[in-house]
Amino acid sequence: MLDQAQRLRQMATEGNEDNNRPKIITVTSGKGGVGKSNLVVNLAIAIQKMGKKVLVFDADVGMGNDDVLMGFLPKYNVFDIIFNNKSIDEVVVEGPFGVKLLPGGSGVARVNEITNTQRNNFLDKLSKLEDLDYIIMDTGAGINRSVLGFISCCDELILVVTPEPTSLMDSYSLLKAVVHFKIKSKTKIVINRTIDKNEAEETYDKFQNAVKNFLNINTEYIGNVSEDRKLVLAVKSQEPFIIGSPNCMAAQDINKIANLLVGDCSSETGTGIQGLFKKIFNIFS
Ligand SMILES: Nc1ncnc2c1ncn2[C@@H]1O[C@H](COP(=O)(O)OP(=O)(O)OP(=O)(O)O)[C@@H](O)[C@H]1O
Ligand SMILES: [Mg+2]
Repeated sequence: MLDQAQRLRQMATEGNEDNNRPKIITVTSGKGGVGKSNLVVNLAIAIQKMGKKVLVFDADVGMGNDDVLMGFLPKYNVFDIIFNNKSIDEVVVEGPFGVKLLPGGSGVARVNEITNTQRNNFLDKLSKLEDLDYIIMDTGAGINRSVLGFISCCDELILVVTPEPTSLMDSYSLLKAVVHFKIKSKTKIVINRTIDKNEAEETYDKFQNAVKNFLNINTEYIGNVSEDRKLVLAVKSQEPFIIGSPNCMAAQDINKIANLLVGDCSSETGTGIQGLFKKIFNIFS
């Protein structure tokens, strides 16, 4: 009898652990420079301010700049944990409201050099980082193996699109590749740099019509971010606008998106950080 009760308790805790695994949200785009990194950094802070624990993983291979936007100058990146014996604490930097940043560096091409021991040691070290609710990944732009790889690792995909026809075209091409390689069956869409709500909705409708007619993937509009000079000033001063100008248009828009995402993602369990890196190792080796 006692044994059975113990087993049930154990099963219950195991279930809880599963529910606690952080969700991976990948933010990507077709065209470069459309505002991914600003979305990632400010969204991460907005979600953290809601009482959730967030880690930003800058996976823009070789060109990551989430650190610059957050006003950091990190010395190490994730590959120093794997190859150079650095600890999680030496590499992960903590920013505003306790948001964590894991710099990705440019070492993805080195993933196939990893020995089994290095892999297992690294996955062990990562258990230190399991106390998270969300991991937001910032990918580079464009359609290439690493971007598609990072897209395939996530629980939720966010595609950033702007009203420019070039952004619409490149977003479409990216989704075409995602569908072609059967990587995801749905994506959330944020329209950035909009003049007003009308332009945002028109842009989404235009995009969604093309996607619906020609590609087998579901899109969900989760909001827009206004064209806002405060964002440009924030980039220059290396202080995220959600902190320096918490009431600006862009900050209000980001808060709405954060609310929606947290409400949306609360039920199912996520891949977790160890799960994420297991996938990355499998894909990139
Ligand atoms: N909502 C906005 N309002 C005004 N300017 C914006 C907005 N979003 C982006 N920008 C401008 O675009 C620039 C690029 O933004 P960001 O670095 O976030 O893009 P990115 O998609 O991450 O670029 P990359 O593809 O190079 O990584 C910003 O520095 C800013 O000047
Ligand atoms: Mg960027």
